Amino acid sequence: MSPKPSRGTTRTTQYQGNPRRILVGITGGSGVIYGVRLLEVLQQKEKDGIETHLIISPAAAITIKAETDYSSRYVEKLATKVYRFGNIAAPLASGSFRFDSMIIVPTSMHTLGAIASGVSDNLIVRAAEVALKEKHRLILVPRETPLTLIHLQNMVRAAEAGAIILPAMPAFYEKPKSIDDIVDHLVGKILDLLEIENALFKRWEGLSYS
Ligand SMILES: Cc1cc2nc3c(=O)[nH]c(=O)nc-3n(C[C@H](O)[C@H](O)[C@H](O)COP(=O)(O)O)c2cc1C
Repeated sequence: MSPKPSRGTTRTTQYQGNPRRILVGITGGSGVIYGVRLLEVLQQKEKDGIETHLIISPAAAITIKAETDYSSRYVEKLATKVYRFGNIAAPLASGSFRFDSMIIVPTSMHTLGAIASGVSDNLIVRAAEVALKEKHRLILVPRETPLTLIHLQNMVRAAEAGAIILPAMPAFYEKPKSIDDIVDHLVGKILDLLEIENALFKRWEGLSYS
């Protein structure tokens, strides 16, 4: 029998009036635009006491270039603080660093596999490991298709360890008119999990059959 999933925490942690720290990892899966948009929205919440701490993987820097008109520099400027991918001595590599939640968006299958198997040889995977062991909320946004059994098993392992798996899967019930609508829907779902008020997508109100 599979082990009982440990709790993916839903608590919101703001330490004694200090800013609410949210870690954002961007890895080299397709869909880096989701991470960029999340940072744009969270930047507007800085006045409400939200800080973003960003790590971009080298593969993500490639996908930013390949998939968007943005530079990595632009993306970094959206964050409150930026850390080098290889800086395994950064504060957030330690369980003593106080933060609320971590989102890895998108999560490549490489990073998913590293998290699921505990191979924390870069700051994104290490911070995710810290989030799991310290019972902070960890949201993974995997992007790959089709999925191998290994990918699926890695998602199960991460979920059993407490991660929330939020796949980059567009919904069509709100009839998206543009890619921006699709991106905002997913970012809105992330914000919902973070308990951050947002109107990025239209909520389902049922069908009217009049
Ligand atoms: C344009 C582009 C798109 C990619 N899309 C995906 C993807 O959707 N999912 C995935 O798991 N890997 C994808 N990859 C491969 C990853 O970038 C690669 O496995 C890399 O080693 C991930 O490293 P990271 O997890 O440290 O970012 C893509 C690579 C490129 C260049």
